[in-house]
Amino acid sequence: MLQSASTTAGPSVRVGVVGVGVMGSNHARVLAEFPGVVLAGVADPDRKQAHFVGSTLGCRSVGSIEELLDCGVDAVSIAAPTHLHRDIALACIARGVHVLVEKPIASTVAEGEDIIAAARRAGLTLMIGHVERFNPAVQAIAEAIRSEDILSIAITRVGPFPPRMSNVGVVIDLAVHDIDLICWFTGSKIIEVQPQLSNAVAEREDIALLQFRTASGVLAHINTNWLTPFKARTVHVATKRKYVIGDLLTRQVTECYGFQPDGSYSMRHLSVGHAEPLRAELTAFIKAIREGTPPPVTGEDGVASLAIAIQCLNGRADTEISPQAVPYVEAPAPRRVRPAIVKS
Ligand SMILES: NC(=O)c1ccc[n+]([C@@H]2O[C@H](COP(=O)([O-])OP(=O)(O)OC[C@H]3O[C@@H](n4cnc5c(N)ncnc54)[C@H](O)[C@@H]3O)[C@@H](O)[C@H]2O)c1
Repeated sequence: MLQSASTTAGPSVRVGVVGVGVMGSNHARVLAEFPGVVLAGVADPDRKQAHFVGSTLGCRSVGSIEELLDCGVDAVSIAAPTHLHRDIALACIARGVHVLVEKPIASTVAEGEDIIAAARRAGLTLMIGHVERFNPAVQAIAEAIRSEDILSIAITRVGPFPPRMSNVGVVIDLAVHDIDLICWFTGSKIIEVQPQLSNAVAEREDIALLQFRTASGVLAHINTNWLTPFKARTVHVATKRKYVIGDLLTRQVTECYGFQPDGSYSMRHLSVGHAEPLRAELTAFIKAIREGTPPPVTGEDGVASLAIAIQCLNGRADTEISPQAVPYVEAPAPRRVRPAIVKS
């Protein structure tokens, strides 16, 4: 179904967005401006919201996934609530459509594996929206530690209560980003978890201190909560020869190196790009479709981070990881103010 486009060397890709709430409306905004991509339509059972996004961006708006598929799409971004990811992804894959699924991949490991199996059988691209990998600061950190011997990773992702509370806690909502980063930075798997969780104010965990050991021997730590009055996102990586510090919000990345016996060392700021992470993520998705190459964040990556997050929720200290599915329940989203289409 790829059509010839005058703006690019290759054929244009017709993409739809499923679920145009906070995240999906941003996917639609980015896709609408993409060279070589046609935003074929958006689908959301909240017809007012679908119409608002469709009319703002100049594309069709429909109320269901079936109507969107009938518009003729090559690919979709799925940004509906997580408990719907599996069924929506399977419906799209059954119609031969490539899928990008927002993080977390699904509500359970088994559901995530269903999506992977279906995409593999159909020979379609499946990518998971772990957008933090495309943060230029994260990419600068990854580059700085690429050939280093990593010893430890400490990630802080804290902030105030989100304005709209769904009934997932900080582990599924926030820590899953950093679990993915730890696996990606180390190129390894997490094999031990030591979670400490507490729900100080919310019904679900709103503080999590999570410790991990990877198969490659790296110790990692995630400090995440919804109790800090300001947002902070930092990554510290200790390697044998360097200490790298990144601020994911200000996008400043610094490395300390040249450690001397007297305790002195050198420091330098690393160059960091300024691309919008969501744009970079969607560019990678379209590229994988066009070239038939594996996407940078695979379904297996998505399942791996979800499995670890679920293991943390199980609250078992010092456990070895088994890929068991432990469902968490995501309730329908509460009533909300219509999300604006803003640059993220
Ligand atoms: N990558 C990130 O940083 C990030 C950030 C926020 C949310 N997310 C993920 O994005 C997804 C959506 O989160 P959100 O915060 O945008 O939620 P949201 O509630 O703002 O939006 C979800 C939208 O999906 C619609 N919807 C419900 N049922 C649907 C169906 N059957 N078909 C199509 N649309 C349907 C809702 O009406 C709503 O407009 C979740 O999986 C969430 O985990 C990822």
